[in-house]
Amino acid sequence: MRKAVSWQVGLRDTLVMAGSRQRQHLRRPVWIIVLVTFVSIFLITAYVYPPTSLAACYIFSSGGCSMFYRQPAFYSRELSDDETASQVVIKEILNTPIQSKNPKIAFMFLTPGTLPFEKLWDKFFQDHEDRFTVYVHASRQKPKHVSHYFVGRDIHSEKVVWGKISMVDAEKRLLAHALLDPHNQHFVLLSDSCVPLHNFDYVYNYLIFTNVSFIESFIDNGPRGNGRYSEHMMPEVEKTDFRRGSQWFSMKRQHAIIIMADSLYYTKFRLYCKPNMDGRNCYADEHYLPTFFHMIDPGGIANRSVTNVDWSEGKWHPKAYRAQDITYEFLKSITGIDVGLHVTSGSENKVITEPCLWNGVKRPCYLFARKFYPETLDRLLSLFSNYTTV
Ligand SMILES: *[C@@H]1O[C@H](CO)[C@@H](O)[C@H](O)[C@H]1NC(C)=O
Ligand SMILES: *[C@@H]1O[C@H](CO)[C@@H](O)[C@H](O)[C@H]1NC(C)=O
Ligand SMILES: *[C@@H]1O[C@H](CO)[C@@H](O)[C@H](O)[C@H]1NC(C)=O
Repeated sequence: MRKAVSWQVGLRDTLVMAGSRQRQHLRRPVWIIVLVTFVSIFLITAYVYPPTSLAACYIFSSGGCSMFYRQPAFYSRELSDDETASQVVIKEILNTPIQSKNPKIAFMFLTPGTLPFEKLWDKFFQDHEDRFTVYVHASRQKPKHVSHYFVGRDIHSEKVVWGKISMVDAEKRLLAHALLDPHNQHFVLLSDSCVPLHNFDYVYNYLIFTNVSFIESFIDNGPRGNGRYSEHMMPEVEKTDFRRGSQWFSMKRQHAIIIMADSLYYTKFRLYCKPNMDGRNCYADEHYLPTFFHMIDPGGIANRSVTNVDWSEGKWHPKAYRAQDITYEFLKSITGIDVGLHVTSGSENKVITEPCLWNGVKRPCYLFARKFYPETLDRLLSLFSNYTTV
């Protein structure tokens, strides 16, 4: 684009110069040369930069162009029919604002069976009946519910194998069920070991009054990031676009619909990002959404998750909290965090920190936290109204 602009400026200079020369000589050949030059430059420019995008960019310099600036890769090679179709659908969905008079948040629980923290969530949901919906995907056994907010909310579920595409399929199944309710505007994925860190109003306002999805997405050049990338994903997914992030997302309705519409990129990850492939272990639930949204709507995601987890022990699984860990001070220390971190893997082992922004203002990063052992329930219940008071 920048090249096109400088061409235009150059062109204007040529015309001005030509104009003064004209007045001096009024010779026909100069006129013709200028005209031919103008027409050819125009044609070349129009060929390299299709006319609609060019015009749109000059006229609406902020909105229209960002699409083209953001995705230079889409124009540097010829797209397949599937990719073109996919771009059309994605852009159409992104450009169609969705609004509801009664926006609700869908809380989607991905669990093997019974949820140990239903009583805590029950407390969290109380008196906010018209502003949320609950969905439960139980992959191993039918849960026994103790809260009426959860009764009858189990969706059709399939077996989930950790690290396999069945995990992504379960996430998509939850999204599909939650999308059936047109009032659901924001969709939160939660595990059986997740607990709320704030009261309902705080969480509701944080998620509804923003235009981004909270999907973690960062570059990890180590073995647990780019080390999992497979060249088979080319040409649609290039290594420079490959991203890593936690599976625990929250997303706006447009993004959830885009996931329903996507089979092209999903298929790439289903086929080429799986455990034990070509000597690599790739886990689609940690790469598909972070990579996909980085590619199609980088400005539409916050690049961070709203679910806290403690990886500081450097083990395969994050730290899990016991009953004795649960104190008012401990919970407040998590709710107060306002700088997010991503830790890259391997020898690089870099800690990337960034302030957590909410609509451009620094705010606490986390609305939920994991992992809590079921034994922490009673202490969480007795502290809930205290630690969630702002
Ligand atoms: C979200 O987007 C809508 C429509 O583009 C806009 O009117 C609104 O101000 C945005 N809200 C925030 C918090 O950015
Ligand atoms: C997320 O990261 C992308 C770069 O990958 C950046 O363009 C975008 O602005 C970031 N989003 C926010 C909300 O900062
Ligand atoms: C919560 O508990 C802490 C420690 O027990 C106490 O200092 C604080 O005043 C309590 N806060 C509220 C809002 O009840």
